[in-house]
Amino acid sequence: MSPVFLTRLVLDFVAVGFFVMAMAYWWLDNRTHELVGTVMFALLFLHNVFNRRWWGRLPKTRRASRPWITVVLNLTLLVSMVALMSTSVLVSQSLFRQVAVGGATAREIHILAAYWSLVVVALHLGLHWSIVMNVARAILGISGKNATRTLALRLASVGITVHGVHSSFELGIWPRLLNLPTMQFWDFNEDTVGFFIHLGSLLGSFIVLGHYTIVAIGLRPRRTEPAMHPN
Ligand code: HEM
Ligand code: HEM
Repeated sequence: MSPVFLTRLVLDFVAVGFFVMAMAYWWLDNRTHELVGTVMFALLFLHNVFNRRWWGRLPKTRRASRPWITVVLNLTLLVSMVALMSTSVLVSQSLFRQVAVGGATAREIHILAAYWSLVVVALHLGLHWSIVMNVARAILGISGKNATRTLALRLASVGITVHGVHSSFELGIWPRLLNLPTMQFWDFNEDTVGFFIHLGSLLGSFIVLGHYTIVAIGLRPRRTEPAMHPN
């Protein structure tokens, strides 16, 4: 495993951390929210620079027999992130307030794009979970198969998914994904850790969904560094 690839993966997880922080808008002050969000976009820009070859080969997708699910998800991610980024500038109250125009629609799209991006990012990470697991195996020096370990990980996945479904209601995700009005807001004065636990298990359940979808449809997920594979 090359140090560059390991750095890339670490940066991916840092980006998830910043994303989760930005979701806790009412826990942060506006300026911190905008700073955290802007750093996350910078990391995503870098992420796509690292993965530029994938975009370069996109027009040849049919011939490359690239997994369609990756193409659909990556394009959805692109759309939702561009919506989130552009509305960030429009609604900005601190960093870009000179150019911000505000408006209820921009704010609505900003929130809608944030929740959809959260779901799609987790599915996207789930699609690449075999890479993450292989890196974890290499770091921990684990080789070969072990039935007990596999069973423990599968049980953990079930636990995370069940908790994630519960968390989706606790956080009021569904009306926000459907752009329906809701009065359900997280009270950070009462419980801060709980918000992050719920958001973590929500992310986890979509990662599990992404990972097992790939397994269920019989696609062999990429297991190692992208540079070693033609896809
Ligand atoms: C990771 C990226 C980001 C995510 C996930 C995100 C998410 C959110 C969410 C969920 C809210 C709504 C809070 C609520 O009312 O319940 C919000 C509000 C807001 N965001 Fe972001 N945001 C991100 C980046 C940014 C950036 C980069 C900026 C500006 C530079 C920004 C500016 C704002 C502003 C000004 C509000 C308050 C809007 C209002 O109440 O009128 N956001 N954001
Ligand atoms: C926090 C958000 C994200 C995380 C955690 C994440 C994670 C990952 C991981 C783990 C990989 C495989 C290893 C690597 O190349 O680094 C990957 C690949 C890739 N990601 Fe992301 N990603 C995120 C956001 C995005 C966004 C917003 C886009 C597009 C707009 C994107 C496009 C791609 C592409 C094109 C690839 C390579 C092709 C593929 O295998 O899908 N990613 N991502």
